[in-house]
Amino acid sequence: MTIKKLLSLIAVVPVLLAAPALAPAAETGVKLDRVEIDTTDVVSLQSGARTFVNYCLNCHSASLVRYNTLLNIGLTEDQIKDNLMFTAEKIGDPMDVAFPKSAAKAMFGTVPPDLSVIARSRGADWLYTYLRSFYRDPNTATGWNNAVFPNVGMPHVLWSLQGERVQKVEPVLRDGQPVMEHGKPAVRVTYETVRPGSMDPTEYDQLVRDLVNFLVWIGEPHQNARKQIGVWVVFALVILIGLTYALKRAYWKDVH
Ligand code: HEC
Repeated sequence: MTIKKLLSLIAVVPVLLAAPALAPAAETGVKLDRVEIDTTDVVSLQSGARTFVNYCLNCHSASLVRYNTLLNIGLTEDQIKDNLMFTAEKIGDPMDVAFPKSAAKAMFGTVPPDLSVIARSRGADWLYTYLRSFYRDPNTATGWNNAVFPNVGMPHVLWSLQGERVQKVEPVLRDGQPVMEHGKPAVRVTYETVRPGSMDPTEYDQLVRDLVNFLVWIGEPHQNARKQIGVWVVFALVILIGLTYALKRAYWKDVH
């Protein structure tokens, strides 16, 4: 292999590393909204945990997570038992659903997937956009549809908070003529609230942000500890480099 070839191969590495970020936003082409994730924000994680057990755990499990893992986000054993454990007996039990899988399949046409590592496969921005993109659609079995997951089998379970919205698809016009895009008339998609929920849009976005923060955290509950250990390891390595260098100087002092 020539040096030139080697260099061009090395040049590809940053592109490969950036690939997930460059991938299309979603298969639907809908632009994803960005969300700030902070898995050290325990107040946000606790709020997310509450929303999760109240609104998601009826259908979705998070079997890789045990209830006592929630001790790491500043909750006490009593708080977990009294406020968050509806489907389990023991604090060491996994976050499973009581709902039988066969019943779920009959009801929704598909089994709601386990959400333990959903943030790792879908990404935080996708989840944040998904949970805020439900709209009313009389043509689906549930009466709901979703902009980033068309014809999803999941109803909008947070509708009483966000309210009900409908989708409006209008052709884009220029001088009264439809604008063409990739050989098709271009459309503009907007959403209109037809019935407000109990939260205003800012409050709802905050609730979803906390929920997504929680989903990111359960995907890797030890990430904060791991990052801290990483800092100490680098620190210890730097000290070792200094010591090794001093040792080398001492050994070679009399050699000329
Ligand atoms: C009434 C039952 C039900 C509830 C409650 C529910 N879901 Fe779902 N969810 C489903 C079903 C069914 C699917 C599968 C949809 C499909 O594949 O068409 C799904 C799919 C999903 C997906 C997409 C998974 C994938 O394929 O990538 C995510 C993410 C999700 N749900 C998150 C949530 C969150 C977060 C909550 C709580 C706010 C929640 N769900 C509450 C039934 C439910």
